[in-house]
Amino acid sequence: MALRLGDTVPNFTQASSEGEINFYDWAGDSWVVLFSHPADFTPVCTTELGAVAKLKPEFDKRNVKVIALSVDDVESHKGWIGDINETQNTTVNYPILADPDKKVSDLYDMIHPNSLNNLTVRSVFIIDDQKKLRLTFTYPASTGRNFDEILRVIDSLQLTDNYSVATPANWTDGGDCVIVPTLKDPEVLKEKFPKGYEVVKPYLRMTPQPNK
Ligand code: BEZ
Repeated sequence: MALRLGDTVPNFTQASSEGEINFYDWAGDSWVVLFSHPADFTPVCTTELGAVAKLKPEFDKRNVKVIALSVDDVESHKGWIGDINETQNTTVNYPILADPDKKVSDLYDMIHPNSLNNLTVRSVFIIDDQKKLRLTFTYPASTGRNFDEILRVIDSLQLTDNYSVATPANWTDGGDCVIVPTLKDPEVLKEKFPKGYEVVKPYLRMTPQPNK
């Protein structure tokens, strides 16, 4: 059955471009972005892997490890990494899982046979430091992903884990937030939101981002 938000993600041990990885041990206390690709030596994937390598410092700042996957083997990944480094002017600085036996792809339901026969589609899993699935999305092979959006979601998740807020449409770090509807006690509101808040409707209350 497909993984659902809030599920504990399954562990696995699999080969990668950086040696064998036991997923839970490798993740440790970090958040993880696990993202899959249709195949090595494909154009859109090449740009995606380069983009993620350049964003690595942004993931590090948020205590997030990144790990890619495609169904090709380690030797193929190593050859492809050379091409990514050369063409995208970067250095791939995270592991790419090799999944020729489809062990991880099947476990995470990354193969959609009616879309791409026996190849992984562009799946993304954001997994928190408790190994819980916090976001998943799937893009078609022809559309490269927006990794700034993935960072934006991580910012929102990490913020809402720590404060009684949610983030509105098109929010980015530093923008106003909404106060969760369950919070009603005026004394608690005053204590939690010392910068104040605006009541647009009783259920829609805006406040400056609490940790800024
Ligand atoms: C690509 O990464 O460019 C790609 C992979 C599979 C199908 C179409 C495009």
